[in-house]
Amino acid sequence: MSDYKLIGKSVPRLDGYTKAVGDRMFFADLAPRCAWIGGAVRSSIAAGKIKKILKDPKFDWSKAVCITAADLPAVNYVAMIRPDYPILADKEIIFATQGIVLLAACDKKTLDEAKRAITVETEEAEPILDFENSTKNLDQYKIVRGDINAAFNKADLIVEGTYRTGYQEHAYLENHGMWAMPEGDNIILEGSMQCPYYVHNAVVQALNCPPEKVIVRQNATGGGFGGKEDYPSVLGVWTALLAKKAGKPVKFSYDREEDMLCTTKRHPSKTYHKTALKRDGTITGMEIDIILDGGAATTMSKVVLSRSILHATGCYNIENAKINARAVFTNTPPNGAFRGFGVPQSIFALERHIDQIAKVLNADPLELRIKNLMRNGHSFPYGQKMTSGVSAGLVLEDVIKRSDYRNKRVEFFEFNEKAKQKNSPKRRGIGLSLALHGGGFTGSGEDNMHTKVRVETDLSSSYIVTILASSTDMGQGAGTVLPMIAAEELGIPISQVEYPNPDTSKVPNSGPTVASRTTMYVGYVVREACKNMLARLYEAVPEAKGGAFFSGVEKYAKKHGKLFGEAVYTPVPGYTWDDETYQGTAYKGYSWLAQVVEAEVDLDTYEITPTKSTISVELGKAINPVLATGQIEGGSLQAYGWAGIEEMGLTSEGKYTTGKLSGYTIPTTLDSPRFDVALFEDPCEFGAFGAKGIGELPMDGGAPAFAAAVENATGAFAERIPITGEYLFSLLEEGKAER
Ligand code: MTE
Ligand code: MOS
Repeated sequence: MSDYKLIGKSVPRLDGYTKAVGDRMFFADLAPRCAWIGGAVRSSIAAGKIKKILKDPKFDWSKAVCITAADLPAVNYVAMIRPDYPILADKEIIFATQGIVLLAACDKKTLDEAKRAITVETEEAEPILDFENSTKNLDQYKIVRGDINAAFNKADLIVEGTYRTGYQEHAYLENHGMWAMPEGDNIILEGSMQCPYYVHNAVVQALNCPPEKVIVRQNATGGGFGGKEDYPSVLGVWTALLAKKAGKPVKFSYDREEDMLCTTKRHPSKTYHKTALKRDGTITGMEIDIILDGGAATTMSKVVLSRSILHATGCYNIENAKINARAVFTNTPPNGAFRGFGVPQSIFALERHIDQIAKVLNADPLELRIKNLMRNGHSFPYGQKMTSGVSAGLVLEDVIKRSDYRNKRVEFFEFNEKAKQKNSPKRRGIGLSLALHGGGFTGSGEDNMHTKVRVETDLSSSYIVTILASSTDMGQGAGTVLPMIAAEELGIPISQVEYPNPDTSKVPNSGPTVASRTTMYVGYVVREACKNMLARLYEAVPEAKGGAFFSGVEKYAKKHGKLFGEAVYTPVPGYTWDDETYQGTAYKGYSWLAQVVEAEVDLDTYEITPTKSTISVELGKAINPVLATGQIEGGSLQAYGWAGIEEMGLTSEGKYTTGKLSGYTIPTTLDSPRFDVALFEDPCEFGAFGAKGIGELPMDGGAPAFAAAVENATGAFAERIPITGEYLFSLLEEGKAER
């Protein structure tokens, strides 16, 4: 096949051993023991005004530092997309758990005493908790293609449906944590995060200081899933402010309850579909209306919404489309980035709706999909013409074959018929879905990012090449994949490549670790930086060509010092995106996934057990097949959890209904179906060695396939998730839907 030494090989994770034996240091191990402990007094109401903040004079305030909005040195917002996330509530309260007073003390006991010594007097207002009825627009987008009215006028049939998805908690293994240490004029921050430069920017603005005075270092991060994309900026600012004021190190670590109650969740959604069809099942037009619940501040919602609308027609060719997408404000903790970034909501609605159409037409959901599938030569509703790179058909065909979908449908039908006769509660079902995910930032995002990477040699130790980039490993494997790319390009063993956790005082900005962009785009720039390094080497030491890298480096060093290479992502000419019209090349590479989920439903307990999941993915190039497969399996299980058992509600006070993992169940390995994943490659010229993003893709299509399997097993058509036992029960009772 290929001549690559490392690319395409399942090199063991470089962090695997230390994590497996428990040697890897995380925030909780690394924060200095002498650090003061930070905490927050939070709002117990969802909306209203702060009348007074009272400090009990009986408490010895010399034992604590205390910060209110009035004490902030500069702006009162956490710098994100928009300046609307207050560092601390000033006069107005916009969500329950919002921070009002920051405190730090030498130990937990004193901190708790200080917290109790604060009283906040408030005047409550009526909060907006129901996003479906919120009129407070956060943002909106619109995409129009063709003539939707004509399509509806000429349609043989019109099918409508409304689909809803709920909150999802990231439930990373490691909670949020940050510690900060003043050092002269500087402030150093460390913690669990995805995006060191986001935290850096937020702290620089909050302290109003020169950028070089703030240093942010990522500690090994025990999972992020998008949850450590925006929120570490809040915690970073809080911790930096406290450490500055205390004049000593402060650590701020969330326990599970504070983490679950106060940090972001996946946006709940409501999506309306109206589809024009020919009698034979050809879709001639689609009207789609998406609403996302943004919560009380913008965080990432603007871009989450953008990704929702751009993926709204999924893997289908829709000639006439009218799509509206709106995010609204509510008085709930702000929702934020979560693996899939708005796409899981869109694809859930779309794929469920395709199943709905199949039901109305009494057609096979598979045949309906095949009929309307997007193929090379087709365009997305936003005008991007796909002359190549569409693999929806490829993955669908493969998954149908490997899962034995057609036979299984018959087999399960017979199984269920027998079960009914025998009065046995077990039913079996099989469901199908298609998903795609655009890798990297949307539109001109990658062009504007100017992703920069540096590689350099280290002469002091036994010849190591170090990658300097701000991308983080949060479990997805960037810490292995980027070194693989560098080692391959340089022709050296991977043991001679190092990729330290980013430190903003040392590494250039290669962007945030989000949008499944790291392997694809940052990896590409890592390779370019290595090429730049080799070019510099070969020019000075021509005999280094042909594999003598390190002896070349030695010769180079004698004359010119330490060898390095640098690269900056350069925009690709001919690809444009227009933010005004929302037309153009939204993404330069899409990955594609088809899956078949088999599930067993127990009609005594209403328990749904996914038993087998067959998945086919086209991902450009599998840099590391085992890691890629791990992403697919883990992301899919996360999607089944969201679809089936993960339930989070709001109390009438606008707080989440649970702050405990005992009250919010997520799937464990015991709840995992047997996975059978196949990877296909259609290299993308804009990604490292042809790779496209796959980190989020598996989250996108799992829920509708799960719901379809439940439908196939029981006849109950779920229009919303999670499909809890109670919901399934109500569907079956209501519709007496069981076949
Ligand atoms: N996998 C693990 N194990 N842990 C994580 O936190 N985050 C997901 C995904 N896979 C995540 C993960 C999210 S939200 C993103 S955006 C991508 O990884 C980032 O992958 P990348 O390295 O391709 O950018
Ligand atoms: Mo991922 S939601 O883009 O961090």
